[in-house]
Amino acid sequence: MIKEKMQKALTSQLNAELFSSYLYLSMSAFFESINLKGFANWMRVQAQEELVHAMKFYDYIVERGGKVFLSSIEGPATAWSSPLAVFEHAYQHEQKVTGLINTLVDLAIAEQDHATNNFLQWFVAEQVEEEASADEVVQKIKLMGDASGGLFMIDTELAQRVFTPPATTP
Ligand SMILES: [Fe+2]
Ligand SMILES: [Fe+2]
Repeated sequence: MIKEKMQKALTSQLNAELFSSYLYLSMSAFFESINLKGFANWMRVQAQEELVHAMKFYDYIVERGGKVFLSSIEGPATAWSSPLAVFEHAYQHEQKVTGLINTLVDLAIAEQDHATNNFLQWFVAEQVEEEASADEVVQKIKLMGDASGGLFMIDTELAQRVFTPPATTP
């Protein structure tokens, strides 16, 4: 059975993952509003991935005999000054989430909760990918500069992203 302190920390991460999903869905809606359908698609897929992350925490807490207490989710930003600003925000957000995951690992180690530490390692690896994929788009937009058609080209590329449901449903 999981200790209360760890359960509380994991529950707050579950909330943070739901917020991430909410934030990316808001970014997706913003891109829809400026007719960048490919950008909107990329963010929509990202929002779906964050729901998968949230459910991983949910299922883990339940599996360890803990109880999930859901709380309110903060409202996300709804407007940005440019597509670049959106992706810079996403990149910053992922760096923040990496910090949250690292703090959870620190707690699991301090509590000698090896199972939770092991569970969290998936997220440690995932965050490397998450930061890299957001930064990749930031760099692409910067590289494009003011080149005409550049945004359209990136939009076409981002339209290709598809959501892949997890292979093993936890
Ligand atoms: Fe996440
Ligand atoms: Fe993420």
